[in-house]
Amino acid sequence: MPRPDTVVILAAGQGTRMKSGAPKVLAPLLGRAMLAWVVDQALALEPKRVLVVVGHGADEVQRAAEGYDSGGRLTFVRQEPQRGTGHALQCCLPALGADPGVVVVLYGDMPLLSRGSLERLVDVHAKTAGGAAMLTATPSDPRGFGRIVRRADDSVERIVEQKDAAPHELSIREVNLGVYAFTGRDLVRHLPHLSNDNAQKEYYLTDVIARLVAEGRRVEALVLEDEHEAIGVNTLVHLAEARAVLQRRVLEEHMLRGVYVEDPATTTIEWGVEIGARTHVQPCTVIRSGVKIGEGCEVGPFAHLRSGTVLADGAAVGNFVETKNSTLGPRAKAKHLAYVGDAELGAKVNIGAGTVFANYDGKAKHKCVVEDGAFVGSGTVLVAPVKVGRGAVTGAGAVVKRGSDIPAGEVWIGVPAKKLDKSGDARNPGR
Ligand code: UD1
Ligand code: CA
Repeated sequence: MPRPDTVVILAAGQGTRMKSGAPKVLAPLLGRAMLAWVVDQALALEPKRVLVVVGHGADEVQRAAEGYDSGGRLTFVRQEPQRGTGHALQCCLPALGADPGVVVVLYGDMPLLSRGSLERLVDVHAKTAGGAAMLTATPSDPRGFGRIVRRADDSVERIVEQKDAAPHELSIREVNLGVYAFTGRDLVRHLPHLSNDNAQKEYYLTDVIARLVAEGRRVEALVLEDEHEAIGVNTLVHLAEARAVLQRRVLEEHMLRGVYVEDPATTTIEWGVEIGARTHVQPCTVIRSGVKIGEGCEVGPFAHLRSGTVLADGAAVGNFVETKNSTLGPRAKAKHLAYVGDAELGAKVNIGAGTVFANYDGKAKHKCVVEDGAFVGSGTVLVAPVKVGRGAVTGAGAVVKRGSDIPAGEVWIGVPAKKLDKSGDARNPGR
């Protein structure tokens, strides 16, 4: 596959229609910002460099974007104020130089485009012999998209924005996805001459396409078949649509690796989660970014695994259990109604129903350690920091005071919990 020289990501817009005040490209999509998905698209094309145009919330967007690329391949260009997509590219001219080679442009609010589609775009561009290529689609609802006006011979003539379109143009079903591969020199030549004589008083990048056609360059439009890739995010309704598509993709990747996701419709698994084969994820479960789950685990129904959770092979987190920043050892279990926060649980630890790791004292978070084979009785509150030794037991309803260190094999009961001398009716820790 030919590689583009430069990818430009447009991410300076405010996104007024989101009604959030925050920069639109930082809207969250499965545990990371929408822009992170677009940066992935750009890097997958292996360009020599990536320019990111920032403007609205520039510092915040730049700081976030830097975190999406460990290789430091992103260069930032400021667009102040934001006068349209064409103006955004105009701001890149100094960075692009006289001959920027092949330039792919991506919009920061199109997070669903697949790598395959973008690669095909670059391929098609290579065949235009110095022309341009763009992605289009024919979605069932062309909401807000620019329409593709074709000539009698079916070749592309221009793109008309919805707000500028005449009634007969509004009925055109083919829309512009805002993804292009340009011959950089043409871009450099045409960008300075764009006008803002249109409904939005903006400089439209789309006008470059009409100018190329007018001077006889070949412009190829590649029509995407999968309508799902064509979701552009302008409102929170669109954000939810995009999330649903991405979620399906993420779940399918896990399923194809042998994770039994029982009910994809009610399961949230964010980006960046590792799950081993033969793990069963039951309905209504939420697994956040960064969680690591081993093989043959059981999760849910109604479990919430938050960041920093690590489950070793065969561990189980069940009904109405929340975990955060905690490790469960091999075959450790917390099956019902528990909060496990900032805890390190050894192998085969059992956390009884209703157990709470009281990790927060109002000022700071503290950690608990529960060693291999320990049995934490139902309704125990462990006021962190606490250590429960190997094979130790707490009785039902025990409140283990802060700083307690329950020695291996001992049984502690009561409020506040104290050592039980005779093993009495408590469970035998030797089991
Ligand atoms: C744009 C296209 C439209 C296409 C649609 C696809 C133009 C003129 N119109 O319209 O044909 O169907 O995208 O999604 O290009 N941005 C900047 N600086 C600006 C303005 C926008 O960086 O001054 C960025 C935004 O952050 C966003 C992207 O460009 O990521 C698109 O901007 P938006 O205002 O959403 O364009 P649309 O009206 O959707
Ligand atoms: Ca848009």
